[in-house]
Amino acid sequence: MHDNQNHATRHTTIIFYVCLNMTQKTFTINYKTYSDISQLESDDQLLCKKAIEALETSYSPYSQFRVGTALKLDDGSVLKGSNQENVAYPSGLCAERVALFSIGASSPTAVIEKMVITAQTDKFQIVNPVTSCGACLQVMAEFEQKQKKEIEVLFYCIGGEVLKVKGIKNLLPFAFVEERLGK
Ligand code: THU
Repeated sequence: MHDNQNHATRHTTIIFYVCLNMTQKTFTINYKTYSDISQLESDDQLLCKKAIEALETSYSPYSQFRVGTALKLDDGSVLKGSNQENVAYPSGLCAERVALFSIGASSPTAVIEKMVITAQTDKFQIVNPVTSCGACLQVMAEFEQKQKKEIEVLFYCIGGEVLKVKGIKNLLPFAFVEERLGK
């Protein structure tokens, strides 16, 4: 009985100590939603159409889930990318990283203004915008850091809603950043 009481007291003390040193923090994530593509500015509508075009080059025999992206650079040029799968499944790559790494390899000083991501499958109906996976967000975060300019990302559900987010911190607030590793 005496031992139990001691244990309980110690436990309470530890919890009290941890609470005193704890700070509750909250992130606010900013994004806009549009009921459909017609609500977007004509420039963004055009980029959405380019993302649909990009679906055509998706190589996705394993998931049958096509993802397309179109990116606009600050010189006005538009580049496309799509997901590329492989029978050794983890060797495949998402549309976003296919496009981003392709830009990195061909135009390393390019500045990305915005990108649209869309998806399509014959297996089921996609009723909401498909958002990027964590690995793609991490890569977007580093492109943004490298170019010192926020990227605007539009997640476009064909025939449905569009989400518009400016700045990858709104999508991956805890992205891994360690500038000293690049020095
Ligand atoms: N996929 C992308 O292209 N982008 C993402 O952000 C998430 C998933 C692809 C990978 C794979 O080819 C298929 O969608 C199903 O996961």
